Amino acid sequence: MKKIATLLLSAGLVAMSAQAVPSPQEDLKHFRDYFQRKFPGLKLDELRNGINALDENHRMQWEAMEEFPPYEEFVDKGKALWEKPFKNGKSFADCFGKDPSKVRVKYPQWDAKKKRVVTLELAINECRKANGEKPFKWKKGPIAWVSAYLGYMARGQKIHVVIPNDPDALKAYEHGKHFFYAKRGQLNLSCADCHVKYAGRRIRGNLLSPALGHVTHFPVFRGKWANKSKDGDGLGTLHRRYGGCNKQQRARPFKAQSKVYRDLEFFHQYMSNGMTINAPSYRE
Ligand code: HEC
Repeated sequence: MKKIATLLLSAGLVAMSAQAVPSPQEDLKHFRDYFQRKFPGLKLDELRNGINALDENHRMQWEAMEEFPPYEEFVDKGKALWEKPFKNGKSFADCFGKDPSKVRVKYPQWDAKKKRVVTLELAINECRKANGEKPFKWKKGPIAWVSAYLGYMARGQKIHVVIPNDPDALKAYEHGKHFFYAKRGQLNLSCADCHVKYAGRRIRGNLLSPALGHVTHFPVFRGKWANKSKDGDGLGTLHRRYGGCNKQQRARPFKAQSKVYRDLEFFHQYMSNGMTINAPSYRE
């Protein structure tokens, strides 16, 4: 606990008194201020480009990839799935509304009835199930295509996660925040160690991106994922990335869309509130 308190302190995320828990709004302000102090030469929105904002070589490679984006065909596939009627004649529009550009910004959202965080991917599969369709697999393939299409349609809009003033919603937020700052795995590192404290530094040969803006461009097409998959589909969801980073920590990954990862996403996306959506994107 002491270690977590020190780390929270280093990120500016600390209560005014020992008892008071800072509100999400206070956390957000401290989080942003911390990164702006750390990278004074970079505009806030530039940070969402991750390591491409920090290193010229990565930037050039990334810009070259974005000229003929390898994710484009998946955005098209996502559009086709969005438009394709289910067997019962309904479609995604019956769950999400007719305008596909208005969906991405609503997620993740707090479901007060079921007392849980609903991510975009969870909502996509719940829509399918409610209409008698088989749910998609969680981390890649069709779910990532639909999510990429909805992200693409929302490009230019700002992340806008709402944490209602409801004790259960705040509990989920605090749970996600704790997960983010807790050390784990054989390396005894937290998400915050790599993406807050050491952001901009190298760890075992890898340059580390700032957590601020992390979520703006998911799902992401990764060269690494494309090389690994037999089908050459390199597109993956945010929870696929969480699993990969837990492995980087030499820790056990959790299941995509498990409660832990949904709560983590609630905190993680909230910290990028106000930043511009630029999904999907290319990463190494
Ligand atoms: C041992 C260091 C380490 C830890 C701990 C770690 N990561 Fe990462 N993470 C990386 C590296 C390396 C990359 C690839 C380079 C980059 O973009 O930072 C990465 C990339 C990411 C990305 C993609 C960034 C982008 O621009 O698309 C996200 C999101 C992310 N990590 C989230 C997390 C979360 C959440 C946790 C905690 C569960 C975590 N990471 C823990 C090392 C780490």
